[in-house]
Amino acid sequence: MEKLVVKGPTPLKGEVTISGAKNAAVAILPATLLIDGVCTIENLPNISDIKISCEILEKLGAKITWNNKNSITIDTTNINTTKAPLDLTSKFRASYYLIGAMLSRKGEIEVGMPGGCKLGARPIDQHIKGFERLGATVTVEKGRISAKAKKLTGTSIYMDIVSVGATINVMLSAVLAKGTTTIDNAAKEPHIVDVANFLNTMGADIRGAGTDMIKINGVEKLSGNATYSVVPDQIEAGTFMLAAVATKGDITLKNCITKHLESITAKIIEVGGKVEDNGDSIRVWCNQRPQKANIKTLPYPGFPTDLQPQMGVVLSIADGASIINESIWESRFQYTDELNKMGAKITAQGKTAFFEGVKKLSGAPVYSTDLRAGAALVIAGTVANGSTEIYNLEHIDRGYENIEEKFRKLGAKIERVTE
Ligand code: EPU
Repeated sequence: MEKLVVKGPTPLKGEVTISGAKNAAVAILPATLLIDGVCTIENLPNISDIKISCEILEKLGAKITWNNKNSITIDTTNINTTKAPLDLTSKFRASYYLIGAMLSRKGEIEVGMPGGCKLGARPIDQHIKGFERLGATVTVEKGRISAKAKKLTGTSIYMDIVSVGATINVMLSAVLAKGTTTIDNAAKEPHIVDVANFLNTMGADIRGAGTDMIKINGVEKLSGNATYSVVPDQIEAGTFMLAAVATKGDITLKNCITKHLESITAKIIEVGGKVEDNGDSIRVWCNQRPQKANIKTLPYPGFPTDLQPQMGVVLSIADGASIINESIWESRFQYTDELNKMGAKITAQGKTAFFEGVKKLSGAPVYSTDLRAGAALVIAGTVANGSTEIYNLEHIDRGYENIEEKFRKLGAKIERVTE
């Protein structure tokens, strides 16, 4: 078993380069199934969710060549099965994108029920509603989802809930449909725009991505033969910004899009941090104990749920009492029990958590309960006095490329140890 051992406290200082966005990349890879040919994807984060995505695509018949650790060339000419391996598809959330992509490509697909972080109920009714509106039949039974369509026809779809996954999935299934599809109440996250940009680069006709109304004019085919670079990861960037504040450090983030970081920047300034926007890089520093603040997570451009646990570390050591209201996931406060083991004073009730800021945290053995909780614990370990041992690293490795190396370069005393 592996664990991370972090010895603190250390103010994190220096430069870090942000990787490509996990949540864009896990959608762009299945989107390559829409292309009858070859394309190259660059700035792919080297994380386990991407390795699993590539393995699944290979099992479906794609040929993948790794150009370097962050770039692949993928040939999807010979997709020869419509049954995705159940064990692999159940390992992560984004396997649901195979449904939209394969409905477009082959008119048929069977996948295992998507897995991923346990954040409470994660229904996919809006995905299914979209597929059915386009003409597909969807069956969910015995831990698998089967979808079939003789023909997909453009239509108007109103999303009852703002959903990142359903918006992307419907886009994937509508790109090659006959006629025009509109998605109303669409999600607006940067990765939605990125997936639309990728598909448009390959010949799709998608307009309005990044607004709440997306229009997809169906095209006959996507031609490929292009290179696409994945957008920088807004959540990884936010994680390092909050690490700078929590550790009273000074970090410059390279390869990020500062426009995507506005809600985080605003909260960092509210708690007493400083932010300097230099276009494609951003400097964040903090010379004081963070101040209290209240947070409510919201779909983009609101404060992202995927940075809520990392912000929770900042508020756990803030001067004063803070409240976080989690409006996206039912169960995203499991990390607060781990922070309390380190001396934090947090009471979580349902979707609300109350933070009574303490002056310091102290090292303890703790467990990642999900991906972003794991990143929060790495920050907490860097803030805390003494040694913190972080277990369940498989969660962190799903979404952060070389987390310990990036923290170490900023001065953290962090080692991965095999027990
Ligand atoms: N929802 C429904 N029905 C649906 C789909 C969603 O009720 O058919 C609800 C969900 O239960 C949730 C809300 O709508 O309450 C939003 O869910 P969304 O569909 O937007 O989430 P997702 O697509 O499953 C993605 C990210 C998550 C991130 C959320 C919200 C991927 C692979 N995952 O999940 O990322 O928290 O959007 O921004 O893109 C992470 O990276 O740590 C992570 C969990």
